[in-house]
This record gives sequence, C-alpha cells and structure tokens, in this order.
Amino acid sequence: MEHDREFDIVVWGATGFTGRLAAEKLAARVGSSGDLRWAIGGRNQAKLESVRSSLGIAAADIPIITGDSHDTASMDALAARTRVVCSTVGPYAMYGSELVGACARAGTHYCDLSGEAHWIREMMDAHQAGAAETGARIVHACGMDSIPSDVGVYFLQQRARQLHGKPCSRVRMRVIEMAGGFSGGTAASLLHGTEAGRKDLSIMRAMTEPYYLAPEGHRQGPDEPESMRSTKVEYDQDLQAWTKPFFMGPMNTKIVRRTNAVLGYPYGEDFRYDEARVVGDGVGGRIKAKAEALGYVGFLAAVGFPPTRRLLKKYVLPGSGEGPDQETRESGRWKIVLIGKMDDGTTVRALVGGEGDPATDSTSRMLVESALCLAQDAEKIPVGGGSWTPAAALGDLLLDRLTTYAGMSFELGPTLGSSARS
Ligand SMILES: NC(=O)c1ccc[n+]([C@@H]2O[C@H](COP(=O)([O-])OP(=O)(O)OC[C@H]3O[C@@H](n4cnc5c(N)ncnc54)[C@H](OP(=O)(O)O)[C@@H]3O)[C@@H](O)[C@H]2O)c1
Repeated sequence: MEHDREFDIVVWGATGFTGRLAAEKLAARVGSSGDLRWAIGGRNQAKLESVRSSLGIAAADIPIITGDSHDTASMDALAARTRVVCSTVGPYAMYGSELVGACARAGTHYCDLSGEAHWIREMMDAHQAGAAETGARIVHACGMDSIPSDVGVYFLQQRARQLHGKPCSRVRMRVIEMAGGFSGGTAASLLHGTEAGRKDLSIMRAMTEPYYLAPEGHRQGPDEPESMRSTKVEYDQDLQAWTKPFFMGPMNTKIVRRTNAVLGYPYGEDFRYDEARVVGDGVGGRIKAKAEALGYVGFLAAVGFPPTRRLLKKYVLPGSGEGPDQETRESGRWKIVLIGKMDDGTTVRALVGGEGDPATDSTSRMLVESALCLAQDAEKIPVGGGSWTPAAALGDLLLDRLTTYAGMSFELGPTLGSSARS
C-alpha cells in the first residue's frame, strides 16, 4: 500500500492523558526530522494546538487532524491519510469501533491500548477477514496490558528453545514490583466495563473464559476459567512468597494464549499460563495478600454498585485528561518474573522490567514503539494483514525496540536443571 499516504503515523487522541504522553515520546524520538511524517489528531482543534505547542520546537510544524470517533466518514478519511494509526481514544468499547473498521477497510495498520477483551473479540470477529484482505495489521493491547506478558513469554520461549530445543509447557508470570498511578481513561474503562457487564452478562463471562481471544476452533485448552473477583492466595515455592491475583491477569493471559494459537502453537498445544502478584513471605505475607485481594474485590463491588460508583467517580478516580503527576510518572518502576517449566522439570526464568510509571509513562513508550514498528519495520514484519497480538505481529522487532528505546529490559535468569526443585 501506503507509501503514497500523507502520514506515517497519526497519534489519535493526543489531547488525552496517555495520548499527550505518546505524542511527547514520539516527538522526542523523531521530532519533525522528515524521516517520519506524523500528525496528532482528536476532536478539539484548540486543545490539539495547545498539545502541539507543549511538544516544543521539534514538533512545532506537526499537522493536526480533527474528527469524531463516532463518525464513520471522518474515521474513513483519517485512515486513508496515514499508514499507521496509534489510538489512545478510549474506553475503546465506547469510542474505538468505527476507527478499527476504517483501518481494516483502508489497509491502515493500527495499534491501541485496549484491555477490553470483549471489545477486542468483537473487533476480531468483525474485521479479521477484511484486514487480512487489505493488509491492515490490527494490534490491540500495546500497553502495560499486555506487552510485558506477551513479549516476555515470547522472549522466554525463544530462549528455552535455543537452550533446550523445546519450549516450556508451563509458564507462571509473577509481578514482583509495580509502583505508579493510573489515568482517567483507565478509570473510565473500568467503570464502563463494569456497567456494561451488569447489563450484558456475556461481557463478564468473556473475562472468565481463558481462550476467549483465541481464533474460532482454538478456544479449548488446559487452562482453567479465571475470575476478576478471585481472592485466592497461594504460596509460590520458587519465589518463597505468598501471591494474590493480579488484576491484569485475566486480560494478559488471553493475549498470551492468542499469540500461541495464531502462531501455530510454538509454545505447545498443552501450554499453560497464569499470572499473580507477589506480596511477601511468612504469616505477614499471607495476611497481607488476603487482605489486599479482598480489598480489590471490595473496590470492584463499589465500582459495580451505582451509589458508590458515583462517589468514586466524583471524589476518588481521575477524570478524562487526568493522571499521575510528573514525579510519579518518572519515579515509577515495574518488574515481573516469568518462570517456565518443562515436563522434565527443567526451569527457565526471565526477568522483564521497565522504567517509569507502568500505566502511563511506560505504557506510552510501549505504544509509540509499537506504532514505529508498524511504520518503520513494515517490510520486515513476518505476518500479513489481520488481527494480531503484539508478540505475534511484531515479535523480535518490537523486543529490540523496547530494550533500545522504551526503557525496558528482558533478561534470562538462572536455568535450573531437572534435578533442581520444581
Ligand atoms: N493498556 C494499558 O496499560 C493502558 C494504560 C493507560 C491507558 N489505557 C487506555 O487508554 C485509553 C485512554 O486513556 P487516557 O487516560 O489517556 O484517556 P483520556 O485522558 O480520557 O483521553 C481520552 C481521549 O479520547 C478523546 N475522545 C473522547 N471522545 C472522543 C470522540 N468522540 N472523538 C474523538 N476523540 C474523543 C478525548 O478527547 P478530548 O480531549 O477532546 O476530550 C481524549 O483525547 C483508555 O481506554 C485506557 O483504558 C490503557
């Protein structure tokens, strides 16, 4: 397609909290050097001009595109002007559908920060065939959910094959550290998902089905249903610590399983995967893990109950355009460990970490590298058009970019032989 398009990338939603950060990161990466033709877009010209001025001299000439996410004609016009759309206009289930359809029709590559499994599946069902035909690579979940998990497992399995000639049949992801805040769009997605889930039970069921995002005919496997409201705490023998459910787990795990399925099962057909958050050791660790798990379920109940939801919205949760301050964004950190096991007991570990607030700063860097990968590595991407995951579409190319430019690290930990404790 495409090189005749006016732009390489449009950051759609640049007036939002994460969109502005993405525009800042992109400006810092490429400026207006001419190597990459990019623009910012949204629905409000004056706000977009203010964002552009805040980007500094290097981005002073960046064009502005306006349109409305609900207007199909305006989304078609946007998709026709650019090779890649990088969208931060969410909740995606509220604002994202017309744009994905427009990109699929126009053969325009697309990436976003969606963690809304039900909507992602709706987009896959509606546009997989069209995108395959036009060559549009549609890549959802290019933020904290679910790049660290998805690309992390991809990295671990690749190294397992190199070292031992086969993948790990089971991988456990454990969050060791995660410090930071979250923005208004994330809060809105949670509120919208909960509200929509009360009206349509299939949305809630979607989160419990482990293979919900796998292609049709591949929605069975050894992993069990997972609950957003689980309070299960477990002792992790490898890490010598108690764990609690990780709130992004039900989404991340579905993306990792989709990667395995769409790539033809490089992790094996019996591959099992789960996620949890490490809390601490001893009785204190156990009590803390249980208390925090119950606290989170209580928070979800408050979000689901209209009177408390109204109070949370008014007094607690950030609104659209709001999020953590600069100090929180810059001092944030996150680290996860992936523990892979083979059937003979051999263990392969990988540590994946990132600098910056996970849900805003680090996320916007991941998204920008995904967009740059779609634009600059288009000829090297091994898959054609269709609905992909970050690891399935962008794999090694993205891994390289994340470590070089996004402050992320992927390291192999010590391998334990089959005689070691498993
Ligand atoms: N996966 C992750 O780890 C992760 C992390 C962070 C965020 N997210 C997701 O990213 C999304 C954005 O979050 P955020 O905090 O940046 O949200 P936000 O601050 O509320 O920004 C939303 C953006 O959407 C724009 N918008 C709303 N309605 C529109 C319409 N009809 N047409 C065009 N633009 C419209 C807003 O424009 P105005 O400024 O004109 O209102 C704004 O630019 C959310 O879905 C959130 O869940 C995911």
